[in-house]
Amino acid sequence: MKEKINKDNIPQHIAIIMDGNGRWAQKKGAMRIFGHRNAMTAVREAIEGAAELGVKFITLYAFSTENWSRPKEEVEALMGLLVQAITDEVPTMMKNNIRLSTIGDTKSLPGFCQTHLEKAIAETQNNTGLTVVLALSYSGRWEIAEAMKGIVKKVISNDISAEEIDPAMIADHLNTAGIPDPELLIRTSGELRISNFMLWQLAYTELYFTEVLWPDFRKKDLHEAILSYQKRERRFGKTGAQIKSDF
Ligand code: IPE
Ligand code: IPE
Ligand code: MG
Repeated sequence: MKEKINKDNIPQHIAIIMDGNGRWAQKKGAMRIFGHRNAMTAVREAIEGAAELGVKFITLYAFSTENWSRPKEEVEALMGLLVQAITDEVPTMMKNNIRLSTIGDTKSLPGFCQTHLEKAIAETQNNTGLTVVLALSYSGRWEIAEAMKGIVKKVISNDISAEEIDPAMIADHLNTAGIPDPELLIRTSGELRISNFMLWQLAYTELYFTEVLWPDFRKKDLHEAILSYQKRERRFGKTGAQIKSDF
């Protein structure tokens, strides 16, 4: 599969909605948390697979604003697993030149999570290979609302005028400022929705849905998604003929 991938058309940025942990566990007659515990292999495979192909950014939706409404025990288990994963993975990230960053309302995470996250981000900040962006306590609507607050404050203090507000300025006030929009979004577990993920950034992203439940996701699934992406014609509003004549 990997050999079929065109190395000249690799997405710079891949975003993944890692879904289906609970169902994976329930299928095995286990508690939902068992599924979250078994999600790390998939995370490692996705990161490694992306790094091998020269992808620049991979954004992983790990915990949404809405996920705070889950049972307390599940939320606590997820926060614990997050810290464990970060602690376990930093040496590998250093070895593979991988940088960690986050988007989302990380200030709302428990203190011990914030401490470990900040430490891992600081440790990996000078790495120049793949950037892994963890979306934590993140939602697209939250992010857009935050951007609006930032812009409105600048208008009130006369740093900018309302007329200057344009899509580029809005993008610069999002958590993802400086990161290119994802060319490819992957969602596992067969759900056909966005669930409040990167609403602004996904405007022209190619969407790829797979029935694979997240704990079963492997490099070959990433390769399959990229191959599907490479077969698409991205038109950005133009006609097919216009796109072809650009080559
Ligand atoms: C994704 O798996 C992980 C998180 C949202 C934190 P789920 O926990 O949503 O698993 P399902 O969708 O219930 O199977
Ligand atoms: C989306 O999955 C959030 C993450 C993967 C972190 P959900 O399982 O929360 O989404 P819905 O509720 O099925 O839309
Ligand atoms: Mg789910």
